[in-house]
Amino acid sequence: MTSLTPLDEAALARLLEAAEAGADPLEVMPPVDGPPGWTPARRAAFLAFHRARSLDPATAVERTWVIDTDGTAVGAARLEPHGDAVEAGIWLTRAARGRGIGRQVTALLLAEARAGGAARFIATTTAGNAGARSLLAGIGAALTADGDEVSAVVPLEP
Ligand SMILES: CC(C)(COP(=O)(O)OP(=O)(O)OC[C@H]1O[C@@H](n2cnc3c(N)ncnc32)[C@H](O)[C@@H]1OP(=O)(O)O)[C@@H](O)C(=O)NCCC(=O)NCCS
Repeated sequence: MTSLTPLDEAALARLLEAAEAGADPLEVMPPVDGPPGWTPARRAAFLAFHRARSLDPATAVERTWVIDTDGTAVGAARLEPHGDAVEAGIWLTRAARGRGIGRQVTALLLAEARAGGAARFIATTTAGNAGARSLLAGIGAALTADGDEVSAVVPLEP
């Protein structure tokens, strides 16, 4: 069973563990200089990134959830308000991909966006990300490409 756990310090520790074990830093956080992989600097930046964006009320810009499947962290989901729209994001660990979890999490995020009264559900991905494009097309999103960037919009009923 897949569920979303609101991010807190305990969930963040579980999320970092999952990211280190099963994802590339570039898939889950902004680039940090240095050799590839989960260096101490990237681990610290991962924690700082989520604390600033979600946990610290003074700087928070989005809500983040740990994606739990059968009690184990397998990725993260986020919703970031932009005016009357809400932008969604998801990443999963490699072992969790391609098993329908992304589709379930997308549905949960869409429901959360509706419940929060957003007028539009938006997301961006890259042209080469077939999984993400398929997820977005599956919820009826209109997809537009601008170079390598693909933008998705789903209008939500008032
Ligand atoms: C993108 C991502 C969230 C998709 O989640 P997922 O759980 O792997 O996707 P699902 O198993 O729910 O599959 C959803 C659909 O995408 C398709 N799909 C999934 N991965 C695919 C791939 N690599 N190539 C082509 N299609 C793919 C599935 O066939 C399915 O389509 P269907 O329902 O029509 O059969 C996940 O693969 C991921 O975290 N990737 C790495 C990080 C990332 O790219 N995040 C998104 C950035 S915008």
